[in-house]
Amino acid sequence: MAKDTSWEKSSQWYNVHMKEDGGYNHRELVLPNLLPLLGLKEGDSLLDLGCGQGFLARAIEANIDYLGLDSSKSLIEYAKRKEQHSNRHYKVHDVTYPIDRDQKFSHATFVLSLQNISKADLALKAASKVLKEEGQLIIVINHPCFRIPKHSSWGFLDNFKGQYRRLDRYLSPFRSTLQTHPSKGTKSPTTLSFHRPLSYYIKSLKDAGLYVEDILEISSNKSSYGKAAKAENFARKEFPLFMMISARKKKSL
Ligand SMILES: C[S@@+](CC[C@H](N)C(=O)[O-])C[C@H]1O[C@@H](n2cnc3c(N)ncnc32)[C@H](O)[C@@H]1O
Repeated sequence: MAKDTSWEKSSQWYNVHMKEDGGYNHRELVLPNLLPLLGLKEGDSLLDLGCGQGFLARAIEANIDYLGLDSSKSLIEYAKRKEQHSNRHYKVHDVTYPIDRDQKFSHATFVLSLQNISKADLALKAASKVLKEEGQLIIVINHPCFRIPKHSSWGFLDNFKGQYRRLDRYLSPFRSTLQTHPSKGTKSPTTLSFHRPLSYYIKSLKDAGLYVEDILEISSNKSSYGKAAKAENFARKEFPLFMMISARKKKSL
C-alpha cells in the first residue's frame, strides 16, 4: 500500500502555524499572486485539493461555492470548525482517487499540496475530470528548479561579494522525508515531499487534458541587514521561492 502522505501527525502544528489567515509566505507571497490569477467572481466554484485547514476558503469572497478536500482528518476538522458559510464544504478524501461530483467546478487549486502527494499525475487527472471545459486549475509549488528538498542550499563568494544557489540534483524525481520539528530529532513527526522537475508538471497537466496558460515565479519580499545584505538581497530576488502554474481544461472536440 502507498505510504500515507497526509499531514495527520503534523496537523496540530500546521494549524497553529497557519493561524486563521495563513503563515507569512501564504499571506505575503501566495495570496497576493494567487487571488488575482484566479479572478473569482460571483457564480464561480472552487475545488481546493489538499486544502489543509482551509485557509484559502477564508481568503475568497463569500459568494464563491467551495469544496476543500484533504486526506488529513484533523485538518478537515479544523477547517470545518473555522467555517461560517453554508456554501463551503470540506471532506476527507485522498485526491489521487476519483472525486464523486456531478456538478463541475469553474476553478481548482493545489496550494503547496501537489508536492506532498505521491501520485501527482493521478491527482491532476482526478481534478481535471471534475473541472468545466476551459475551467482553470492553478498549482502553487515550491520552485521546482531552485528548492530541491535537502539538495539545494546557499553559499557565499569571497567576502560576501555574491551569494549563489547550489543545486546537487534536479532532473530525477525523488521522495524526501522532512521533520516537522528538527530540534526533536527522530522524535519529530515527519511529512513527505516529492521533488519533480518542471517537465514532469507540464507533461502531467497535458496528460490530464489541461494546457498551461501562465507561469508566475515569486521571490521572497524579505530584506537582510549587515555585511551580507547586498549579496543576500540580490540573490533573494533572483532565485524565486514559489512557482504558480495556471492551466485550463481543453475543450473536448
Ligand atoms: C503543506 S500542506 C498545504 C495545505 C493547504 N493547501 C495550505 O496551503 O495551507 C499539504 C497538504 O496536502 C495534504 N495531502 C497530502 N497528500 C494528500 C492526498 N493524497 N490527498 C489529499 N490531501 C493530501 C496534506 O494532508 C496537507 O494538508
